[in-house]
Amino acid sequence: MEKQQISFTLTLYEDPADLPKVLKGLLKKAEDSRKNAYAPYSNFKVGAAVLLENGEVVIGNNQENASSPSGLCAERVAIFQAGARFPGVSIKAVAVSAGSSKAKVDKPATPCGNCRQAMSEYEYKQQSPIEIVMAGETGPVYHCSSISDLLPLPFSNSDLK
Ligand code: THU
Repeated sequence: MEKQQISFTLTLYEDPADLPKVLKGLLKKAEDSRKNAYAPYSNFKVGAAVLLENGEVVIGNNQENASSPSGLCAERVAIFQAGARFPGVSIKAVAVSAGSSKAKVDKPATPCGNCRQAMSEYEYKQQSPIEIVMAGETGPVYHCSSISDLLPLPFSNSDLK
């Protein structure tokens, strides 16, 4: 029997102004995109921005539906759009911004399990890490240097032999 410890580093920016410039800019695009979310059921609006290695930024926001499973989270709207528009171009970073008209979101929204799995697919496909920054309306900003930090031991194409 052997026990293995799997750990990751979560960087917390108490002051978002301290974020590296590129990530600060990307987070601003996620915030802007959040305003256009379609979230009449939860009133929880999320924006995402995906930075590609060619410098393009692709945005997304959550799109809800009266039949709730038919809606989609901001992260998947953005990353699927990136895959559709720029196939074969690697993703460097994803920024996620959450806000609500019901109560101030004072901590980062971390992606749901489905979004982690979806983003993990892109990381596997490109064989290089995708950084992710996550923020609420106030409070700290979280940074992880890879999606695999959020989803260790992922199921991937390598399992489909
Ligand atoms: N949501 C996202 O878009 N991303 C997240 O990281 C968390 C949750 C959306 C899904 C749904 O439209 C609303 O937020 C409430 O769950």
